[in-house]
Amino acid sequence: MRSLIDIKDLSLEEIDELIETANDIIENPEKYSQKCKGKKLATLFFEPSTRTRLSFEAAMYELGGNVLGFSEANSSSASKGESVADTSRVVSCYADIIAMRHPKEGAPLVASQNASIPVINAGDGGHNHPTQTLADLLTIKREKGRLDNFCIGFCGDLKFGRTVHSLISALSGYKNIKIILISPNELVIPDYIKEEILIKNNIEFVETRSLEEAMPELDVLYMTRVQGERFFNEADYIRLRDSYILDLHKLENAKKDLAILHPLPRVNEISVAVDDDKRACYFKQVLNGKFIRMALIMKLLEVK
Ligand code: NCD
Repeated sequence: MRSLIDIKDLSLEEIDELIETANDIIENPEKYSQKCKGKKLATLFFEPSTRTRLSFEAAMYELGGNVLGFSEANSSSASKGESVADTSRVVSCYADIIAMRHPKEGAPLVASQNASIPVINAGDGGHNHPTQTLADLLTIKREKGRLDNFCIGFCGDLKFGRTVHSLISALSGYKNIKIILISPNELVIPDYIKEEILIKNNIEFVETRSLEEAMPELDVLYMTRVQGERFFNEADYIRLRDSYILDLHKLENAKKDLAILHPLPRVNEISVAVDDDKRACYFKQVLNGKFIRMALIMKLLEVK
C-alpha cells in the first residue's frame, strides 16, 4: 500500500505516468467515469481549502466514486482532543483512501503510519504540498512541452510557501533547470531546501529581491501569496503582503511564451488585468489539478 506524503515518494517515471494518464483523462474522460465505482475517498481537512479539497472531491466523483469527510478541525473529534493517529485508524474503517490537510508539519506522515489505507498529503503547514506540485508539473508540461531545460522564477513567500518547497524538490530531478528565487529578505527560501535540495543536486539557482531584473530570463514564473496564517506578527504580514504585484507593465520585459503559474488563492500579487494575457496559466492549472488527482487516486488505489 502506497501513500503520497512527499513528492519524492514518486519516481520520475511514476510522475511521467501520472502526467500521461492525466492527459488521457483530459482526452477521454468517459473511459474513466466508473474506474473507482464503489470506492470512497475521505477528505480530512483541518485547515481551510477551496481548490485542493474540492478538486479531490470532484476527482473522485468523476471516477464514479464517493466522498466523505470534514472541512474544518472544529467539526471533527480533533476538537475533543483526538490524535491524528487515532483519527486515521478510525477513518480507515470507513474509506478506501484519505486526503489530509493539516496545519502541523508531518501530520499526514503520522496519519500514513497509522492508517491501513493510502494517505495523500494535501498540504502540511509550511512544509509540503505534493499534489499541487503534480498539478504544476502537468501545467508546465502542457504549456512548455517539456519538464527540462527551462528557467523558472519563484516569487513571493518562499519561506512558508509549501507549494514552492515541493515544486523545487520535484524539479531537482529534471535536467538543466535554472531557478531564480525572488523574495523579500524576511521570506527567503529555508536553508534546508537550499542545502538539501538545491546545492546537493547541483541545481543552478540565484536569489534576488527584484522581479523586474529576473523577468526577461524566465520561461515560467511561479507567483505565490504571502502566507499570512503562518506569521507570528500581524504587522510583519501587513508590511510584506504586497511586496510583489505582477501587472501588465512588469510583463513588458517578459518572454512572449512565458507561462505564469500561481497555486491560488490570489490576494493582490497578480493584478486581474493579467488574467486576460495569454501567458496567464493559473486557471488552467486549477483544472489540471483535478485531472492529475484523478490519475493519482487511481494509482494509489491500484485501479488499472
Ligand atoms: C496553496 C496552499 O494551500 O498551500 N493553495 C492550494 O492548495 N492551491 C497556496 C496558498 O494557500 O497560498
